Amino acid sequence: MATKWWQNDVVYQVYPRSFQDSNHDGIGDIPGIISRLDYIKSLGVTMIWISPINKSPMVDMGYDIADYQAIDPQFGTLDDFKTLLAEAKKRDIKIIMDLVVNHTSDQHEWFQDALANPDSPYRDFYIFKKTNNGEAPNNWRGIFGGSTWEPVPGEDGTYYFHTFAKQQPDLNWENPKLRRAIYDMINWWLELGVAGFRVDAITHIKKDLDWASIPADDVDGLASVVKKGRNRPGVGEFLTELKQETFDKYDAVTVGEAYGLADSELEKFVGKDGYFSMVFDFSYMNIEVKNGDEWYRGRADWTPVDLRNAFFNAQEATAAAHGSLANVLENHDQPRVLSKLVTDPQYQTPQAAKALGTMYYFLPGVPFIYQGQEIGMKNFERKSIDEFNDVSSINNYETALQDGYSSEDALLAVNQKSRDNARTPMQWDDSECGGFSDATPWLAMGTDREGINVAAEENDSQSVLNYYQALGELHHDAEWEPVIVNGDFQPMRSLPETVVGYQRRLGQKVLTVLVNLSPKSARFSLVQTGGVLEQVGEVQLTKQRVKMSAYSAIVLGNKPEEG
Ligand code: GLC
Ligand code: CA
Repeated sequence: MATKWWQNDVVYQVYPRSFQDSNHDGIGDIPGIISRLDYIKSLGVTMIWISPINKSPMVDMGYDIADYQAIDPQFGTLDDFKTLLAEAKKRDIKIIMDLVVNHTSDQHEWFQDALANPDSPYRDFYIFKKTNNGEAPNNWRGIFGGSTWEPVPGEDGTYYFHTFAKQQPDLNWENPKLRRAIYDMINWWLELGVAGFRVDAITHIKKDLDWASIPADDVDGLASVVKKGRNRPGVGEFLTELKQETFDKYDAVTVGEAYGLADSELEKFVGKDGYFSMVFDFSYMNIEVKNGDEWYRGRADWTPVDLRNAFFNAQEATAAAHGSLANVLENHDQPRVLSKLVTDPQYQTPQAAKALGTMYYFLPGVPFIYQGQEIGMKNFERKSIDEFNDVSSINNYETALQDGYSSEDALLAVNQKSRDNARTPMQWDDSECGGFSDATPWLAMGTDREGINVAAEENDSQSVLNYYQALGELHHDAEWEPVIVNGDFQPMRSLPETVVGYQRRLGQKVLTVLVNLSPKSARFSLVQTGGVLEQVGEVQLTKQRVKMSAYSAIVLGNKPEEG
């Protein structure tokens, strides 16, 4: 099997605002990232994905870009970024950026010009529609709630389209001039030396051009935009051109944020000559809620069997398409995994954090670690909606109230699912500002910091941090890396219901991963085990039997040719 240059990478996601402040303003920045490169390296990381650092009014915390080719002054300068590239390179770390091209900020000069002047050539860079009756062109509901249409001030009956917040107008990919401008911008970054991109919200770039209303799916009379503006026929033509005009020329790595992909489309997305190098496996990302976008609608009952079936199927479908997945437990859009997947708070322990890490780290594909995941950070409960920053949390809260939910229920839902859970500053030590800054952080620090910080964990051989470092070592171990990168994937479907397990096989070598995702212990028979490569919690092994305690995990390695 051909090994692509990025296939044995381990990726670390930096959310720059919350990673490390260097200039005392309570906001993380590029020099801060540079000062922590050795730390990142210690995790076995070979590539960093940085969430957007482009110039932005920060309505969606950088996912609303006002100038693609400028660094936001809050984060530093272009020279700082060049230094980051050089310092990372010295440590054999590649940098990938976030590519947000479904929309810009409403402050982008293209949009400002389009808004100011109906005859502006930039009007056709966006989606403007005029209706005769003055009402919105259709009943599509945006991802962050409310209509996707915003009236243009001073022009009766004219609206512009936005999939996300109203300050994030969608770009018109039907316009070849717009596409050209985007490709030139991408190539400019690739020339600068970035290794590739995490490609934001990319299945949204094609909309159904009938712009027709569809039956409402809720009391607001609206219907989710994902039905008419995500993963629609024709998206592949845009993605093929995008790849040919940019990524292919530089052998760049790309990771698609491609919500809503059917298995049958994996071949086109990540197969041989796919649009992207990989797409994220989101198969169980929203397992704990009924609706991943409108999550105030309630929690879902899920079991470890649902969870394992979700990623078993994703892996098998991707293997059938000869593609690769980017494996994730967390990102900047999700609550902390320990709070999400371990439902009983008394088990939200470092041990459970390690067990969860074990579960996904050895899957085929590339592991992505989100900052703070490697120290076992947890959600942070806020007492009032005023304490939230995230635009989607605030919008979801308001929509929930309009739908008749009580403010307590709405607040609970926001606390459980808010993106701010993952956005609290990185916990470097247990000082007031967590070693993140010496000024008040832009978003309050989490309260659960004792023992859950880098300084404490570096000195504790049993810590989550030490475990992630060990996982990194095993991933790059000469003996096991080929198995982890190229081995076959064999889901273990007949294990007890609480145990998530799979094997990786290459030639004679077998790697077995077992995780008991439950407060109850589990016993089962298992022939052929091999030596223990990693262990979390109490696991008893005899020749034929395994007994796993609550939230325990084990990685076994078998190399029969050696005896
Ligand atoms: C992606 C990003 C998210 C952002 C949205 C709009 O889902 O991960 O943070 O709000 O796109 O750009
Ligand atoms: Ca700063």
